[in-house]
Amino acid sequence: VSVHRTPLSFAARRHEVVSGAGVLQRLGHLLREVHEPCRVALITDDGVAAAGHVDTARDALREQGFGVHTIVLPAGEEAKTLDQAERIWSWLVQTGFERRDVVVALGGGTVGDVAGFCAATFQRGIDLVQVPTTLLAMADSAVGGKTGINLAAGKNLVGAFKLPILIAVDVETLATLPERDIRSGMAEVLKCAVLADRDALERFSEQVSVLLALDADALNDAVVFAVETKAGLVAEDLHDVAGRRALLNLGHTTAHALEAEVGYGRLRHGEAVSVGLMIAARLAVQRGVGHEDLQETLRAALNSFGLPTGLPLGVDADGIVERTRFDKKRDRGRRRMVLPVGSGGADLFDVSDEELRAAL
Ligand SMILES: NC(=O)c1ccc[n+]([C@@H]2O[C@H](COP(=O)([O-])OP(=O)(O)OC[C@H]3O[C@@H](n4cnc5c(N)ncnc54)[C@H](O)[C@@H]3O)[C@@H](O)[C@H]2O)c1
Ligand SMILES: [Zn+2]
Repeated sequence: VSVHRTPLSFAARRHEVVSGAGVLQRLGHLLREVHEPCRVALITDDGVAAAGHVDTARDALREQGFGVHTIVLPAGEEAKTLDQAERIWSWLVQTGFERRDVVVALGGGTVGDVAGFCAATFQRGIDLVQVPTTLLAMADSAVGGKTGINLAAGKNLVGAFKLPILIAVDVETLATLPERDIRSGMAEVLKCAVLADRDALERFSEQVSVLLALDADALNDAVVFAVETKAGLVAEDLHDVAGRRALLNLGHTTAHALEAEVGYGRLRHGEAVSVGLMIAARLAVQRGVGHEDLQETLRAALNSFGLPTGLPLGVDADGIVERTRFDKKRDRGRRRMVLPVGSGGADLFDVSDEELRAAL
């Protein structure tokens, strides 16, 4: 079993990402490295349970003497509601969880966000372990400590920063994930390539078939690459105030607008990000801050994973322009966007309605 350890240190809080094949079977051992025996609140969702990963995690934890109690949430954004958070808090109380116990979030980004939020708030905070089971969660959401739930008024409006004591990534859990989600998760990995290492765009393109065949080493390399890129920016700006962490929003301003415009659930998040990355690359060229080469390399890389690089038919460019205005009254047709610059990295720019319309 080949397992990789990536040390992370944010705000003097050290923890590790342990990733590779067979990590889930070793979850008990890994938790014992960072925590004394205790009770574990295993929080997951329907989809992950149906895929069989909950049994594997539970057995691995019990074998090392952890007392495991499991709660299963509805799959998808339905898990990230105040109702589900309250259900978790009440269950933690009724099951007798105490401050020295641990929450284990087993699932995609939705489970990680709501379980992390509950761990941050239950009795003012109990220890959290993230066990991401989607490529998006492995490469992105499990790292960096952001947790939260949605309100009717919008996504992620309530939340907390909560760093886990351990992030355990078993790339073998991806075997049960639809291929469309693997392709979609690769959009975030390619985003990291634009931010940190443009040569990696071609490297990943050459690996499409091994990655889609779920080769454990190839997947693990992609995850570790994304984790290290994200960690580099998060470490400089954990609370997302200095502008460094914001660079991870590359491609996301228009991606969020596009997701809303076509209706949530129609496009995978990564598919929208793919289109958003192309728009950002084109805006950068229009402005004279970006290289045309990147547009072409990026398009080729995204296409090699079957990811879309243009607006879907029937999507109204004006809708995207409207939805991306930061504040309709105050900012008079301006928006802050991350654009890829020069031969590496990215920066924040004010983009006008006219500029964005031209790029769309
Ligand atoms: N906290 C952060 O920093 C951060 C960053 C990016 C995204 N997010 C959040 O992440 C969420 C999206 O996460 P996601 O894309 O992982 O979606 P998800 O958590 O909804 O998972 C997608 C679907 O896959 C199923 N699933 C998960 N793992 C599986 C597996 N191994 N096999 C089979 N099925 C499996 C789930 O049951 C679900 O139905 C959004 O709510 C977003 O806001 C958070
Ligand atoms: Zn994203």
